[in-house]
Amino acid sequence: MEKTIIHDKLNRPLRDLRISVIDRCNFRCQYCMPADQFGSDFEFLPRSALLTYEEIERVARIFVHLGVEKIRLTGGEPLLRRDLPILVAKLSSLDGLRDIALTTNGVLLPKLASSLKDAGLKRVNVSIDSLNDELFGKINGRGVGTGPVLDGIAAAKAAGLGIKINMVVKKGLNDSEIIPMAQYCKENKLELRYIEFMDVGSTNGWKMDDVVSKKEIFQMLSEHFEMEPIDPAYYGEVAKHYRYKNTNVKVGFITSVSESFCSSCTRARLSANGQIYTCLFNGNGYDIRNMMRNGATDEQLVERIVSIWNNRRDRYSDERTAETNKHRKKIEMSYIGG
Ligand code: GTP
Ligand code: 5AD
Ligand code: SF4
Ligand code: SF4
Repeated sequence: MEKTIIHDKLNRPLRDLRISVIDRCNFRCQYCMPADQFGSDFEFLPRSALLTYEEIERVARIFVHLGVEKIRLTGGEPLLRRDLPILVAKLSSLDGLRDIALTTNGVLLPKLASSLKDAGLKRVNVSIDSLNDELFGKINGRGVGTGPVLDGIAAAKAAGLGIKINMVVKKGLNDSEIIPMAQYCKENKLELRYIEFMDVGSTNGWKMDDVVSKKEIFQMLSEHFEMEPIDPAYYGEVAKHYRYKNTNVKVGFITSVSESFCSSCTRARLSANGQIYTCLFNGNGYDIRNMMRNGATDEQLVERIVSIWNNRRDRYSDERTAETNKHRKKIEMSYIGG
């Protein structure tokens, strides 16, 4: 099928679709779903509210027709959604898709990595913020040690999936793990990306003082490793990359706070209940689920998505100040998948 390329108000093309398949998670990371806010009485989406795999495939097919080349599955924890490989198989058979990836906490990868790979998944980004069991258990809010995640990484490797490691750095919490994580990943030839703690949602108690900037992390790394910068692999890549000298091992930084990257943001987001979001920090979603359930044709869905993208002018990270942080209506990370 021929692609139609569409642009937003800031002339950014639509290239990526991040699809959240579930709003639940088996962890309660402090910076994402703090346990005191997401307790046993928290009301997650009922099953009937979630897009079915057929509905997700239909929306994704239209997005691919409108220029999307890369799809990422997220959550909550996407591996908690039953029969996920069935969805991956549907999506990976879409014509015109260059990449299909998944962001996960890794715990269920030993069970699922090989069937995901067989279904066509190319790679996984696995989150782990510390190699110290006690600290990691405190951060994930469930007391889970590093073992299950490291087993998940090993399973992904054995299955032949590409792997990147995500580490959110929060001042005074896990900055002591910056160097141990670098050493571990370098030794195991894993690409590690340090992520600046972001002000997503309104439950994680974000303060600018808690952010450890790329500059600070880079400075710490420079005392232990020699690194050389490398060019972005493609337009709009989220992380900035370096390579450890005389190796093929990359290390990256996701600098949403200190060096925003909105000017090349090509990402749309689809929440588990079928709302389209045009920015991680814009809490106004556009419904597409009810449109589909009320019998909309493909042409009507195309028209709606084109209009949403053509009218987009989000650049939250560019504009971030203490004031915008307080007043903006935002959406929780677990609902929209990062
Ligand atoms: P790759 O395709 O491997 O580059 O993945 P990715 O980095 O785009 O996705 P991942 O889910 O691993 O996200 C890593 C971090 O980047 C998370 O903290 C995301 O919330 C953040 N991130 C991804 N896209 C955006 C974005 O458009 N804006 C902001 N501010 N953060 C983003
Ligand atoms: N700031 C930065 N990154 C975050 N993530 C979750 N919450 C935050 C936050 N407040 C990361 C997760 C995962 C990815 C989807 O987003 O660790 O790697
Ligand atoms: Fe779950 Fe990922 Fe959020 Fe942690 S960061 S609570 S693993 S969705
Ligand atoms: Fe894109 Fe919004 Fe992130 Fe900027 S803050 S890069 S516009 S999602």
